[in-house]
Amino acid sequence: ALPERVKIVEVGPRDGLQNEKTLVPAEIKIHLIDMLSEAGLPVIEATSFVSPKWVPQMADQVEVMKGINRRPGVSYPVLTPNLKGFQAAVKAGAAEVAIFGAASELFSKKNINCSVDESLQRFEEVTKAAKEAGVRVRGYVSCVLGCPYEGQVSPDKVAQVAKRLYSMGCYEISLGDTIGVGTPGGMTEMLEAVRREVPVDALAVHCHDTYGQALANILIALQMGISVVDSSVAGLGGCPYAQGASGNVATEDVVYMLHGLGIQTGVDLPKLMDAGAFICSSLNRKTSSKVAQATCKL
Ligand code: HMG
Ligand code: MG
Repeated sequence: ALPERVKIVEVGPRDGLQNEKTLVPAEIKIHLIDMLSEAGLPVIEATSFVSPKWVPQMADQVEVMKGINRRPGVSYPVLTPNLKGFQAAVKAGAAEVAIFGAASELFSKKNINCSVDESLQRFEEVTKAAKEAGVRVRGYVSCVLGCPYEGQVSPDKVAQVAKRLYSMGCYEISLGDTIGVGTPGGMTEMLEAVRREVPVDALAVHCHDTYGQALANILIALQMGISVVDSSVAGLGGCPYAQGASGNVATEDVVYMLHGLGIQTGVDLPKLMDAGAFICSSLNRKTSSKVAQATCKL
């Protein structure tokens, strides 16, 4: 059975923009985030507290956090790879953070410059500090359906990392197909393994759409009991440490599919499409959302 309601986690302002070569002004990011909350998105990942040398696009994180109009009931998580990032995030007013690990050693090294075990130790420091500060923590596992450096990733490795993140206190674990190579077959197998270790209502899927499989993979996840889906307005995005991977599945396309299935999201699709049009014109690029491209309407 499919869920009655799905929570969409909008990652466009972070995952969507982090890969843009040209620096996007903070005012544009702030306006985008405000348009997204206006459209009814319940969770909007706002920015990252990572090293500006590694990801220059996120160097304006404090300005973005200060500038957004925080809507009651909306959460604005931010990425924090370590205690330094966590402390800066809390100082900037973050009430929720996300730690991001991987099921692949080589990706972990390239992305956050440490092994998977080292990263989990750093994350324990973050979750401990977060517990004391009353900050909620979301956990990511990257490369759950394949790695740009290692190729195949075993579902058991994904399940182990997800379990560690869950046991250290993450309220939700987002399973990332970082390079968008997964198919419904791989998704089924991976989720079966993870579901044995982490309760299904604490799981989310985070699909990039490189091979055009994201919506099919999401449908599988819904059928397997998952009711939290990450997506990015206009399908923006990619990871700077995963060359050739395209953006996340477009939020517009996810909302269209969910509403067509009779699943509630609380999202106003026309307002969401306005946000997509705004960011695409600001970046001077075409949308990757099929729904936004479509000219034939019912
Ligand atoms: P490092 O070089 O190993 O860190 O980087 P370090 O501890 O040796 O410190 C080096 C310098 O960075 C020092 O500054 C630190 O102060 C500074 P310096 O003395 O050279 O001036 N530093 C920081 N500055 C700001 N904020 C911090 C911070 N920490 C240290 N938090 C580090 C380690 C993790 C910092 C680095 O590798 C990094 O920033 N990586 C960012 C990676 C990233 O943002 N990737 C994209 C997001 S992940 C993703 O997209 C996947 C996801 O979408 C899910 C999916 O699709 O699968 C989530
Ligand atoms: Mg991602």
